[in-house]
Amino acid sequence: GLVNTKEMFAKAMAGKYAIPAYNFNNLEQLQAIVVACAETNSPVIIQVSKGARSYANETMLRYMAMGAVQMAREIGSTIPICLHLDHGDSFELCKSCVDSGFSSVMIDGSHLPYEENVALCKKVVEYAHQFNVSVEGELGVLAGIEDEVSAEHSTYTKPEEVEDFVKKTGVDSLAISIGTSHGAYKFKAGQPVPPLRFDILAECEKRLPGFPIVLHGASSVVQEYVELINQYGGKMEGAVGVPEEQLRQAAASAVCKINIDSDGRLAVTAKVREYFGKDPKEFDPRKYLGAARNELVKLIKHKNETVLGSAGKA
Ligand code: G3H
Ligand code: 13P
Ligand code: NA
Ligand code: ZN
Repeated sequence: GLVNTKEMFAKAMAGKYAIPAYNFNNLEQLQAIVVACAETNSPVIIQVSKGARSYANETMLRYMAMGAVQMAREIGSTIPICLHLDHGDSFELCKSCVDSGFSSVMIDGSHLPYEENVALCKKVVEYAHQFNVSVEGELGVLAGIEDEVSAEHSTYTKPEEVEDFVKKTGVDSLAISIGTSHGAYKFKAGQPVPPLRFDILAECEKRLPGFPIVLHGASSVVQEYVELINQYGGKMEGAVGVPEEQLRQAAASAVCKINIDSDGRLAVTAKVREYFGKDPKEFDPRKYLGAARNELVKLIKHKNETVLGSAGKA
């Protein structure tokens, strides 16, 4: 069945790699994740956001996740699969996911005053741990999509808070803010990408030895996809993400979970646009979604093998 993050993170910490956390909203995304992770023998976290729940229905997604485990076994793979709630925003939502069979939840109280974040997170941990469900908390605020200069709109994690937060809440992992942001426009276009704040990460590691750190907003915004999108009628000028080399550096550190959503969206959009550009007569969704799914498999294998280092670690 579905597993929590405990053993995955312990192994990732010891082996100096990161577990990929891919968001999914539909069948093709989930099939691609399962196939790519099975073929690369990578442990995986599949995650459901608030947006995914309202798009596809939480129950539907949960059964799909259970189906994903079964599908992996049927194609001969023993990879561990964790079903995680991404950016849970209330105790009630986290509780409902725990009750319905998620194996991990995030409670994102990062926008709250510190003591409120602590209290909310603690409440979720106390509930979730009764059912062996792992909990991710967050300290520091990631910049929002399309902020002009992401760094100026982020509130970096304060390393002096992390030890107290983990001790008081009992969380299993902690998401931190070191300069990443969600979406496809993370940094100013046409300028050198400012490096992530590895100094802040190092300070957090020093205060929390051996404790799993999570990196959100970690898409690279693959330029081949952006170019393909623009070539086939899209308008995504200036889309830019986190360079792979920085993600490799993060994966080798205490960062045990790297969240990737936007790169998958770009792969799908690029391939669907290209498909229609080349074959405007096609109207069978299996054709263009199939092309998108094939590209997603390639992207995920590439991430696991050459960026996160999770390939072969299941
Ligand atoms: O954290 C954000 C994820 O990329 C999910 O975004 O709420 O649009 O599904 P979403
Ligand atoms: P990206 O938008 O960089 O893919 O980040 C995804 C994420 O952090 C999901 O929680
Ligand atoms: Na790591
Ligand atoms: Zn996120």
